[in-house]
Amino acid sequence: MAEAEVALSDREFDKIRDRIYRIAGISLGDAKRTLVVSRLSKLVRTKGLNSFDAYVDFLDKEATADEKQTFVNALTTNLTRFYREGHHFDHLVDYVRRLIAGPHHKSADGKARLRIWSAGCSTGQEPYTIAMCLMQHFPQLRNWDFRILATDVDTNVVATAAAGTYPQSDLEGLSKEQAKMFEIVGDGTIRVPAPLRKLVVFKPLNLMQDWPLKGPFDAIFCRNVTIYFDKPTQTRIFERFAGLLEEGAFLYIGHSENMRAEALGFRLEGKTIYQRLAGENGRAVA
Ligand SMILES: C[S@@+](CC[C@H](N)C(=O)[O-])C[C@H]1O[C@@H](n2cnc3c(N)ncnc32)[C@H](O)[C@@H]1O
Repeated sequence: MAEAEVALSDREFDKIRDRIYRIAGISLGDAKRTLVVSRLSKLVRTKGLNSFDAYVDFLDKEATADEKQTFVNALTTNLTRFYREGHHFDHLVDYVRRLIAGPHHKSADGKARLRIWSAGCSTGQEPYTIAMCLMQHFPQLRNWDFRILATDVDTNVVATAAAGTYPQSDLEGLSKEQAKMFEIVGDGTIRVPAPLRKLVVFKPLNLMQDWPLKGPFDAIFCRNVTIYFDKPTQTRIFERFAGLLEEGAFLYIGHSENMRAEALGFRLEGKTIYQRLAGENGRAVA
């Protein structure tokens, strides 16, 4: 039987909004009231509590780190799919073709180096799409020092992503070429093959906190993530991305997102694709 919903007063809604904003930068508008009730009622009941007030009090005073994380996980929206916003991957392939042909960066061991970050990777479809389309076009990347870093604030989705197993229905809408990159497991699931999984390093990471990352990156994908943030938070994140991108590298953002490119050290290359400009603008903010 479905858990009974817990009543949510205006004051309780404000406390929850304030908490998720402080922790994850997520701004919940008035329209998200029903989302809060439907996602959190079960957590309130599971703790044997009978109000959101009591639940927030519990989070403030008694909850373990895991219980606090469960609250965050419950309020993220993780919608994603393979090859979402396909024009980004077409652009990435052209860009990497140019990188391979031209002078490229080298790792300490002398290997050519390629680094891509999927920031807000959800259940992994975005970083795996990057891995699949690049390895399909450029098998020689096998000999490169090529890594994709994939991070998300939601620890549940990071665990799902690392497993690399998905329902077979995720193949719907993909071309034959795209679908053939997956292993068919045979029980209604598909799997990203091990050599492709190995290219991706998954880590929980909250964009509101420090980023213990080794840049610089040749590309950052942060798509359909900052849509949940307010403008000042978005600007701060884009500035920090600028500080971690190679000059000439690209930032890919979601279809309904935008930024003041020049002020932040970028130029608009094409629909939701921004190129990091040469120069110091934004560089110091990592
Ligand atoms: C709608 S999904 C987008 C997934 C993928 N980038 C795509 O476009 O298909 C948004 C993701 O952003 C993550 N997110 C939200 N706030 C975040 C934060 N402060 N730090 C890191 N990730 C965050 C959510 O957990 C969620 O998985």
